[in-house]
Amino acid sequence: MSTADRPEWTPESWRSRTALQQPDWPDESELESVLKNLAEVPPLVFAGEARALMGDLGRVANGEAFLLQAGDCAESFDSFSANSIRERLRVILQMAVVLTYSTGVPTVKLGRIAGQFAKPRSSPTESVDGTELPSFRGHMVNDIGFLASARIPDPQRLMQAYNQSAATLNLLRAFTKGGFADLRRVHQWNQEFVSSSPEGRRYERLADEIDRAMRFMGACGINTETVPKLHEVDFFTSHEALVLGYEEALTRKDSLTGDWYDCSAHMVWIGERTRGLEDAHVEFFRGIANPVGCKVGPTMTPSEIVELCEILNPGKVPGRLTLISRMGSEAVAESLPPLLEATRDAGHPVVWACDPMHGNTFTSPSGRKTRHFDAILQEIAGFFAAHRSAGTWPGGVHVELTGDDVTECLGGAEEILDDDLGLRYETMCDPRLNGRQSVDLAFRVAELLRGDDNGGAVAAG
Ligand code: PEP
Ligand code: CO
Repeated sequence: MSTADRPEWTPESWRSRTALQQPDWPDESELESVLKNLAEVPPLVFAGEARALMGDLGRVANGEAFLLQAGDCAESFDSFSANSIRERLRVILQMAVVLTYSTGVPTVKLGRIAGQFAKPRSSPTESVDGTELPSFRGHMVNDIGFLASARIPDPQRLMQAYNQSAATLNLLRAFTKGGFADLRRVHQWNQEFVSSSPEGRRYERLADEIDRAMRFMGACGINTETVPKLHEVDFFTSHEALVLGYEEALTRKDSLTGDWYDCSAHMVWIGERTRGLEDAHVEFFRGIANPVGCKVGPTMTPSEIVELCEILNPGKVPGRLTLISRMGSEAVAESLPPLLEATRDAGHPVVWACDPMHGNTFTSPSGRKTRHFDAILQEIAGFFAAHRSAGTWPGGVHVELTGDDVTECLGGAEEILDDDLGLRYETMCDPRLNGRQSVDLAFRVAELLRGDDNGGAVAAG
């Protein structure tokens, strides 16, 4: 069914469709009262900001910018602090400088942050030692503790998610506009990474080149005092808009354009498990005017992806739709090219981003859910190669990371081994790259883009 054949969209029209992965709220009336409150609170983001991001993503779709979408798999109510937000932002800024230099185009910075509180699960229940409980679905829904009481969905958590998102956004706005993101400072952090760590030394040449470029700019009178743009950055927020009642409650009509915006984040995406064309998530997303994303795994077909583009972006607006490929390092070479060709041939201006995390998760012999740094890098390399063949622009990367020194993903230059995973395995959901692995990854991607690793350079589209 194309957009033209669908009944009129309203913020609640998703309710007549199948909504997968929704919590089993025990008390409908309590849920309704929280949603009613949420419908009255101030928006977290503004329509004009979402439009600015759409413009930036439009440049990505046209091959004139690169997208870095990154942050936690699942944000936590418990480990919520200024430090953890600052460290996550710091890593993202460091990665962005390396990517900007190596791509030669602006990096659009989009956090998985300030709203990433709901998780889809492959199984509705979890069993430990013969006890079966409902699965943990993210702090917006229930708690992670393995207790029957902790796993009961609590609608008050929706309000707490809103409040924590507001506080997080407030800090992000202060950090990104208040001097923390100063280019010279971010470059200094990268220099520290290069000089102080074994994994960093490999990138001395690249860091020196960036340093020379900055000194050249300085000699020409371009510095962080004369050009305010170098002193602050635009930083946007995004999350998987999974719990549709919450998203609907934060959806507001923009007084300027009359369009509906989901004001819970600048960009929202549909997960791999909830992207059915006739289902509730696609229905909700088609009517909001934000830039939107959809995860794309190996079961996606060429005709389905074109139909998805028609439903979500009938006007073929560049920047409106980001397709986030998550094929797995083994499958990417085979699964991605037919999809790139299908969207290209249908004339759809999509942003293609590579999520090299979710197709590469496995349980290690020690029993922890993990990912290997090499598989992550290999999927990105496969993504670039597929775009090179299709003549399309590899628009960006989407990664799960933290600024903290966790041991959740294997490998990387500091060579985290299976036995090390238990040292600081802190994630509530999927394994994240730690701060050093993340910056390491940005340098490795830079090498791929420049062809330094003999993988061949990526042609700008
Ligand atoms: C995620 O991004 O955390 C996630 C669950 O991804 P996917 O929908 O691609 O499995
Ligand atoms: Co995840």
